[in-house]
Amino acid sequence: MTHTIVLLPGDGIGPEVAQAARAVLEKAGAAHGLPLEFSSHDIGGCAIDAHGDPFPDATAEACVEADAVFLGAVGGPKWDAGGPRPEAGLLALRRALGAFANLRPITLFPGLEHLSPLKAERASGTDMLIVRELTGGIYFGDKVEGDENASDLCSYSRQEVERIARIAFDAARGRSRRVTSVDKANVLATSRLWRNTVIALRDADYPDIELDHVLVDAMAMKLIERPAAFDVVLTENMFGDILSDEASVIAGSIGLAPSASLSQTHGGLYEPIHGSAPDIAGQGKANPVGAMLSAAMLLRHALGQEDAAVTIEGAIAACLSDGIGTGDIGGSASTHEVISAVCERISA
Ligand code: NAI
Ligand code: MG
Repeated sequence: MTHTIVLLPGDGIGPEVAQAARAVLEKAGAAHGLPLEFSSHDIGGCAIDAHGDPFPDATAEACVEADAVFLGAVGGPKWDAGGPRPEAGLLALRRALGAFANLRPITLFPGLEHLSPLKAERASGTDMLIVRELTGGIYFGDKVEGDENASDLCSYSRQEVERIARIAFDAARGRSRRVTSVDKANVLATSRLWRNTVIALRDADYPDIELDHVLVDAMAMKLIERPAAFDVVLTENMFGDILSDEASVIAGSIGLAPSASLSQTHGGLYEPIHGSAPDIAGQGKANPVGAMLSAAMLLRHALGQEDAAVTIEGAIAACLSDGIGTGDIGGSASTHEVISAVCERISA
């Protein structure tokens, strides 16, 4: 029962943070008796350099066969001049895995309140999970390009709404059992379908979950007025794109935030939300926490190993509360020092 994990380190700080993810997976795997097998493959700019293709066939095959995929980051100025784009590799990967559900936890760690752009008393206690539909809505609808008129069609089916709502309700059962569904039901037909579908699913299968509805414009305000009030936030593709970026800044550094993109057919894709950070690549400055929290999500969602996930999350929280961190969060530790400190606390 060996679990196979594909690592796609990618470009810039990607390899540094992928090493962090691997280290905590190995440590937590050993602590919990989980046999894990790793293989590394090229994606993005490094794959363009080596194979002329940001998503080579060998990478694609390994990813679709794996139990889970971890990605560092792709891109950088080197590939901005022309030719194939590194980001094309990421899009192809998400498509190959059928990733339709994007999970973005936003956690303000105790002791790091001063990093938030919000006042500490307002930001304190923020611990939410944004669940964003990733493959439908206006980004994928029929498009008419034009100089005088243009249009983008927004469409959702009941089935698409149900499957993402299930992800949110299931996640809420492992948290505070509250879901806030965000829509624009006063204006959009897709939002009325969204709201009716979410309500019907809750009534039928999740009566234990407290559900409320907030219009997206009001949500943009509430997220910064009282972010700690939210548990699971469920929303469609474009609203989720905007709200997840807005919410992510509340926690302080982009280097702290993880994500997961779940699929019905594969184990999913796990990646920190940051990019390849070419300005600090190779200097031991990269904050590995977002990557390590993504590794914890991998254990939780792809392998069903909640205890091992909690072990990693607890070790990271302990390090942060001990003041161990990289420069972006005001610490003086290197990437390696943070990795070692977290790993020590996993075996303890
Ligand atoms: P970025 O997230 O790479 O960097 C933004 C700023 O945050 C930089 O100052 C960087 O040093 C800092 N930062 C990011 N991650 C950090 C970490 N773990 N620890 C400490 N500091 C960190 O975004 P940017 O600069 O807009 O993009 C750089 C490259 O990354 C571009 O080529 C872009 O296309 C690509 N990118 C890739 C993504 C992915 O692979 N999923 C996502 C976003 C951007
Ligand atoms: Mg975005």
